[in-house]
Amino acid sequence: MSDHILIERKIKNFKKIIRVASDKSISIRSLLLASQAVGTSEISNLLESEDVLNTIKVIRKLGISCKKRGGIYYIYGFGLNGFNIKKNITINAGNSGTLARLILGLLVRSNYKIKLIGDKSLSKRDFSRVIKPLKLFGVNIKSNNNLLPIEIIGTNFLRPIEYKENIGSAQVKSCIILCALNTPGVTIINSKKSRNHTELMLKFLNYPIKVKKKMNLEKIFVQGLNQFKAFNYDIPGDISSASFFIVLTLLSKNSEIIIENVNINQSRIGIIKILNNMGAGIKFKKKKFYNGEKIANICVKSAKQLKSVNCPSKLNSSAIDEFLIIFLAAAKAKGVSRFKDLGEMNKKESKRLDLGVNFLKMIGIKVKRTENDINIYGNPELELSDNFEIKNFLKDHRIFFLSCIAALTLGGKWKINDKMSANTSFPKFLPILKKIGAKIKI
Ligand code: S3P
Repeated sequence: MSDHILIERKIKNFKKIIRVASDKSISIRSLLLASQAVGTSEISNLLESEDVLNTIKVIRKLGISCKKRGGIYYIYGFGLNGFNIKKNITINAGNSGTLARLILGLLVRSNYKIKLIGDKSLSKRDFSRVIKPLKLFGVNIKSNNNLLPIEIIGTNFLRPIEYKENIGSAQVKSCIILCALNTPGVTIINSKKSRNHTELMLKFLNYPIKVKKKMNLEKIFVQGLNQFKAFNYDIPGDISSASFFIVLTLLSKNSEIIIENVNINQSRIGIIKILNNMGAGIKFKKKKFYNGEKIANICVKSAKQLKSVNCPSKLNSSAIDEFLIIFLAAAKAKGVSRFKDLGEMNKKESKRLDLGVNFLKMIGIKVKRTENDINIYGNPELELSDNFEIKNFLKDHRIFFLSCIAALTLGGKWKINDKMSANTSFPKFLPILKKIGAKIKI
């Protein structure tokens, strides 16, 4: 079966109400915490993408039963460190940095050695950011020069740490929090702000965790070795998946979209702040709270003319997965948009900063780059008519989505490879695009 699609014309104007994929970060966390709860947890609207299905495979391999009935996932937990691990197993996190980093925090008291592996992309990613704090806790962990495969074997002699997390990485912060659950005493994390779904979920479970906020920093206190009960959770939509439809609408003429039931947690809405600074006029409607998370419908209309933005780097962490699509909006905006300190983009599923810059140049946009800062010289008249082929060697889902939205809004004839990469986070991406009128040859 071919793994490419062809897009040869722009999308016509549309007015639609859609739902996008469920939140990937919350889906993975709900499964991992359910695997540590006492009793049977019920999770509805779980994202059925590869990263999440790999999470289910991993917890099953660690001895936790997980069944699906009538659209609900039932996870049968035996409490903290309640895994039932067989000798010398290998777990495979596939493409998921979140799964790979977070699961390590839960394996710190395992009886047997566990080997962690991943796909080609994950095998290029740096694990020193989690190995370093885990070693301070006293965890036995070995790696291939900070790359996968990693071997971890549990210990009963963990000690609480005070750690400065200064990358602004939720994966690192969450790995430390999960390790702290298994460690006696109080662990303290001084963390640069990043998505806080782990903390919110633990609070919802009445776990003794406290967060003190100070400007762009957080001090998190986690009391170890407390049990928590099984829970029910209904996963909201993912703003990272919504972001492609938001920019599609902004850059299409006479169009409108309502994306229902999306998580709008403050630590995730950097893209909305940045686009609204550019004059996008995106609105949240029907806001509500659910288990500590904020949810709303996102309402977007075509933008008459976006203007450039000077993006403050304090927004970087809250838009880290969205910069590729923000760059496309900046390419069509009037003026020069400036982004700073985006080095973390190169540590994702692929080197997204490098690829994003090359992509902009490929579509004829002037970009000036100095290390981790880029200036994008927008061209509101940008229209394409050439042929383009996107080869996505590391099968990065967000490069695939970006390419589709560029093709549908700028014109030209596009052959976009690796359509299966959509399955990492958003398997229904192409069907939803078609539903709103995109002509895509598969
Ligand atoms: C995630 C955190 C972010 C993000 C990733 C998902 C999470 O990574 O890029 O897609 O669920 O914790 P970092 O925390 O490493 O920045």
